[in-house]
Amino acid sequence: MSDSYVSKTRESKDLYERANKFLPAGVSYAIRHFEPYPFYTARAKGSKLYDVDGNEYVDFWLGHTALILGHSPPAVVEAVKRQLENGTHYGTSHELEIQLAEQIVKMVPSAEMVRFTNSGTEANMYATRLARAYAGRSKIAKFEGGWHGGYDALHISVKYPFDIPESAGLTAGSLQDTIVLPFNDLEGVKEKLKNEEVASITIEPVLGAGGGIPAEKEFLKGLRELCDERSVLLIFDEVITGFRLAPGGGEQYYGVTPDIAVFGKILGGGFPIGAFCGRREIMKRLDTLLYERPHYSFHGGTFTANPISMTAGLATLKILKDGQLINKLNNVGGKIREKLKEIFEVNGVDVQVTGAGSLFNTHFTREEVKNAHAASKADKKKLINYHLSLITDGVFFLPAHTGALSTAHSEADIEKLFSETEKYAKQCKAT
Ligand SMILES: Cc1ncc(COP(=O)(O)O)c(C=O)c1O
Repeated sequence: MSDSYVSKTRESKDLYERANKFLPAGVSYAIRHFEPYPFYTARAKGSKLYDVDGNEYVDFWLGHTALILGHSPPAVVEAVKRQLENGTHYGTSHELEIQLAEQIVKMVPSAEMVRFTNSGTEANMYATRLARAYAGRSKIAKFEGGWHGGYDALHISVKYPFDIPESAGLTAGSLQDTIVLPFNDLEGVKEKLKNEEVASITIEPVLGAGGGIPAEKEFLKGLRELCDERSVLLIFDEVITGFRLAPGGGEQYYGVTPDIAVFGKILGGGFPIGAFCGRREIMKRLDTLLYERPHYSFHGGTFTANPISMTAGLATLKILKDGQLINKLNNVGGKIREKLKEIFEVNGVDVQVTGAGSLFNTHFTREEVKNAHAASKADKKKLINYHLSLITDGVFFLPAHTGALSTAHSEADIEKLFSETEKYAKQCKAT
């Protein structure tokens, strides 16, 4: 399989060798590396990526799940082209930031006020600081397998084995102040927090990097109640689920309202962005006119509310706001999960297909996958081989990562996913 990939990607191999001289691991983000080496994208349009060797891939990775309208959707491209002529970066206040904030407030139940950042990592970092400032507590909590970006306080217990630090350079202080909780296990959460005073609990409504594992509705409701009882702020990290599961994100999909919601990816319409929003009373702690140092919670940044990102975000939300396309994608997502499961089962391959809405992931295990711990016990090698087999035949998933759908995917694209999956499942059966 790897030989076949190598024979199709000669130019990429050369670029990878060149990249290795100047970019650590040859990449700009560790997860973009896969064995034997990543292909190099030359261009992208709609549901497809095209590499430097001229191979075409149906793209289910979609720029880290950000591209819900596919690559370079015409409405976004047109709006951005117009904005490019009016300035790429102001560093001053402008109306587009108000318009996008107003649009988010209309769509997201928990949002009364908004602040923009350049990435999901930054948005989570500032949301955590805000929660600490508001609650007057230092400790925070997050879940095992939860990925919220590389901010020290949240970069804990993301990958199996969960007790090993995720990176060198994390200080003891940042690790000590974060309590790690078991996902989809309310009793376990209560036990862990029994003797703790935390400012916030941060959760992804669907674990993304942790395996595309949805929270159970009752679990999220229980978490909400627990937070209310203990005066803890509930933070939904909706960087993946935002504007994907529903126009109002995971909170609307589940009917559970957090105190703070964090967005990224889709909100930028293909350009860098992040945002955090929440109840006015909480967000007011960011108001430097109301609070003096050290009582306000600082947030800022050179490129915050960049007019290109605001424009692309506005064009994207305009398309998504009535929920019709999202509902359609969610239906197709449900069918994909069922069909993938069926294909593997018919071929006698143990599999759990997880996901929600238009997100899906495959775990080669017989055991039910309700948390990242269970996902970590699945056969990772099989998953990587499955994805490499798909890539070699023109279907792109970043190996071992959650796949996503866009409105640009055609029936033929999805049929291709099924037929290539069947090919792999048959190979598995034969070996
Ligand atoms: C749920 C979640 N939160 C936060 C982040 C970090 O966002 P960014 O990569 O934009 O910093 C990610 C990125 O994958 C994510 O999936």
